[in-house]
Amino acid sequence: MNIQTNISLKNYNTFGIDVLAKRFISINSVYELQQLLKVEKDIFLISGGSNMLLTKDIEKLVVHINIKGISIDKEDNNNVYITVNAGEDWHEFVLFCVENNFGGLENLSLIPGNVGTCPIQNIGAYGVEVKDTITKVEALHIDTQKLVTFSNTDCNFGYRNSIFKNEVKGKYIITAVGFKLTKQHHVLNTSYGAIETELASKNILKPTLKDISNAVIAIRKSKLPDPNEIGNSGSFFKNPVITKNEFLVLQEAYQEIPYYTVSENEIKIPAGWLIEKAGFKGKRFGDYGVHEKQALVLVNYGNATGVEIYMLAKKIQKKILTQFKIALEIEVNIIE
Ligand code: EPU
Repeated sequence: MNIQTNISLKNYNTFGIDVLAKRFISINSVYELQQLLKVEKDIFLISGGSNMLLTKDIEKLVVHINIKGISIDKEDNNNVYITVNAGEDWHEFVLFCVENNFGGLENLSLIPGNVGTCPIQNIGAYGVEVKDTITKVEALHIDTQKLVTFSNTDCNFGYRNSIFKNEVKGKYIITAVGFKLTKQHHVLNTSYGAIETELASKNILKPTLKDISNAVIAIRKSKLPDPNEIGNSGSFFKNPVITKNEFLVLQEAYQEIPYYTVSENEIKIPAGWLIEKAGFKGKRFGDYGVHEKQALVLVNYGNATGVEIYMLAKKIQKKILTQFKIALEIEVNIIE
């Protein structure tokens, strides 16, 4: 096993935070991972590194999950069942589906990260969540090295949430994810305002999967920073859910407040709007700040430290709590 020492993790996390792994290993197969876990239990996992904020050097053995491969398990006239190994790049997999006319993931185009981490926070965008297409999650139990299959129901998916963030956190390593996608009669999800506007601007009346994927790519590029250019981890906070009564009080004060109704008594407020109203949008402090086009995204312009970004996040939380009486929850994993 090829364990390297003192490796910079800057290129392994989309925030581009430059901390060191004292020991580092890249894993290419489930077998390699099983062999490693027999001797090393105290590990720190890194996959696409797209949902973490590193605040210091990592003392544990850093295990980079680089298991590749896409296989079509079965198909009939309407559906295809695909198993994708954890180390595949998410967006490349989405493009593979779009090119092959497999429907269901096109709205999730251009989300940074790897396939293996998509179930953990149940990635979602433009009216679609990945839980709607996941059939199974294969994961290695760290203590026993046994390969376990979680069904969709086992995963206990919720908004940016799953069993992997709760009950079994730190106990398993996801090695592959299974998807059920459509081959015909695609259920297109264009109701998200910006997609319709984007399609209309191109005079597309009957969109294909490719049209939707292209529309999503265009919208994301116009709003969200590309991690290859400006370090970031997508939405830093979750959109908070408040009660109807709390919402009505807010609406009195801010008539223009955008919201989504979650249930009869629950309203979701875009955290980006709150942060913008609190005056943080586009604010830059040294090498870090709040993105100028989407206030939900904190950014590293070059050499920011994780601690600086975490401190900014705490400052934002404090201000939102004072101004709106809303506790913003951090969505990104803070590695302290
Ligand atoms: N808004 C502002 N100011 C801002 C940002 C947003 O006023 O700086 C307002 C917008 O005008 C709009 C509303 O907030 O009325 C919603 O904004 P947007 O459509 O950009 O979506 P979001 O709720 O801010 C969520 C996801 C994103 C996902 C988009 C699109 C969460 C935490 N974030 O953002 O996910 O791409 O919807 O579906 O749910 C991610 O998780 O990393 C991510 C980027």
